[in-house]
Amino acid sequence: MMAFRDSIPVKTRHEIEAMREAARHVAEILLELRELVQPGITTAELDEHAARAIERRGLRSSFLGYGPQGLPGYPATLCTSVNEEIVHGIPGPRELKEGDIIGLDFGVIAGGFHGDSAVTVPVGRVDPEVERLLATTRSALYRGIEQMVPGRRLSDIGHAIQTEAEGAGFSVVRSFVGHGIGRKLHEPPQIPNYGPPGKGPRLRPGMVFAIEPMVNVGGPGVRMLEDEWTAVTEDGSLSAHFEHTVLITEDGPEILTRVEGSH
Ligand code: MF3
Ligand code: CO
Repeated sequence: MMAFRDSIPVKTRHEIEAMREAARHVAEILLELRELVQPGITTAELDEHAARAIERRGLRSSFLGYGPQGLPGYPATLCTSVNEEIVHGIPGPRELKEGDIIGLDFGVIAGGFHGDSAVTVPVGRVDPEVERLLATTRSALYRGIEQMVPGRRLSDIGHAIQTEAEGAGFSVVRSFVGHGIGRKLHEPPQIPNYGPPGKGPRLRPGMVFAIEPMVNVGGPGVRMLEDEWTAVTEDGSLSAHFEHTVLITEDGPEILTRVEGSH
């Protein structure tokens, strides 16, 4: 069924209920993690908190062990990406210090469905220009989400994100993309954070996407560290990452990974 292989899944009412539940867990736990961020805490401590929260709720991690079959897979529950790290930073003994920024990327499986969300937060006080990077990346995410209206086309999402990020003088990462999400963490389609408007399949109610812009202060280039997971900016500039799992309804987007106080 070649022609249908990459078609975009549309969720049933029942599946949507299960995804709301999974995403709510993600949102609640991510809020707890955000509140722990302060100078002196290690990224491993944040990961341990995430793992305990998952266990207490009787859930499973979307990320632990994730990867191509036969390979060891991602070694932690949480991705912790500090400063010039873009995504997939591996938790460890590194202590956060005043002025850092840290991206927390987190996903769970509940009732057979994944939820996936990320936020980048300042550690203590940061420079105004760094605040602007965080605010712009978040608003780029929201500009993308605003496009999730039935009848719009897939590339409208990335176009809106790129316009917002580049309009503020920053660049968007090309090597990583947003994605469909459901019984698998990554489902069709891939959702680039850039591109022309008005291309690709039409958006329909019942589609669920994880939208996740990564925005760099400098150029868009990416380099991989030797751990084979951590992606950093090629020029060493700071990078921010925000993500939500979002359902398309008849009336527009419903952000599933948002509770009171979320990004
Ligand atoms: N939000 C990220 C993504 O969708 C997190 C994946 S971490 C991994 O790619 F370990 F699962 F790869
Ligand atoms: Co994701």
